[in-house]
Amino acid sequence: MIVSRLTGVLGARVDGVVLSPDMDSGLVAELRSALVTHEVLVVPDQRLSPDEQAEFSHLLGSYSPVPFVQPVPEHPEVIKVVKEATEPEAFNFGGVWHSDFSFLDAPPAFTVLHALDVPDVGGDTVWASMTAAHDQLPEEMRQQFEAITCVHSASASYSPAQQSLHSGLSGMDIRTSESAEETREHPLLVTHPESGRRSLFFNGTYVRGLRGSGIGDGTDEGAHEERRLLTWLHEFSTHVRFTFRHRWSNGDVVLWDNRTTQHVALNDYAGQRRELNRTTVAGPEPAT
Ligand code: SIN
Repeated sequence: MIVSRLTGVLGARVDGVVLSPDMDSGLVAELRSALVTHEVLVVPDQRLSPDEQAEFSHLLGSYSPVPFVQPVPEHPEVIKVVKEATEPEAFNFGGVWHSDFSFLDAPPAFTVLHALDVPDVGGDTVWASMTAAHDQLPEEMRQQFEAITCVHSASASYSPAQQSLHSGLSGMDIRTSESAEETREHPLLVTHPESGRRSLFFNGTYVRGLRGSGIGDGTDEGAHEERRLLTWLHEFSTHVRFTFRHRWSNGDVVLWDNRTTQHVALNDYAGQRRELNRTTVAGPEPAT
């Protein structure tokens, strides 16, 4: 297995490996270690059926439940991320900066995305490293952030008001629900359970509020500071200097660590089709 870094911050390409449910355990351990280190791994030229992708994902951990998005028929652990060429104006799935399902008690540790039919140009995905962002925080802010928790919810994406947006994608079955309003708090600064590295656990889509350190305490001043800090965190954490951008080819499998990254799928391929299969691997509750 050859691992080559793709930027000075995050992302690596892996060659010399065939991903499959029967992979040797030593190779899986190497892959996992590279994934935790580089945060995003690109493995070109793979051929995984939906079942094989689900079983391969089990080598990294158990299945992480997928709310709101209906799975591929007969493959309950796989969702299809698809926008048809005939849907040029449609919103695209994953088209805002986020970390997959961070609003769950235990958000997925890893996501595995397999490109089946991607545009000739456009439709890239961009990831930002939250470990790199954490390491660049001014010391005073880092100390303040230790006392802050983020209020996560799916409301901005999956509340019933968003149904018409999702219904514009004929190839995906996304069912919004009032349950999207439920909230969960996770620390703003977390420690990775495998690497021990600290990172921000923040994304502007699912983090709807902040608590602690006089923020979000019900006062006007607290509310103002909460809004200011939410904007600052979004702008800082998605700055280009923390990012890696991938241009997809059919057959690519990209794996990423949701605990230490955010990502966004670019919607710049009107008139072309884009189809990928996605699986997610369970993780523990985020902890400081
Ligand atoms: C996602 O957010 O999981 C989808 C990313 C993509 O389609 O590139």
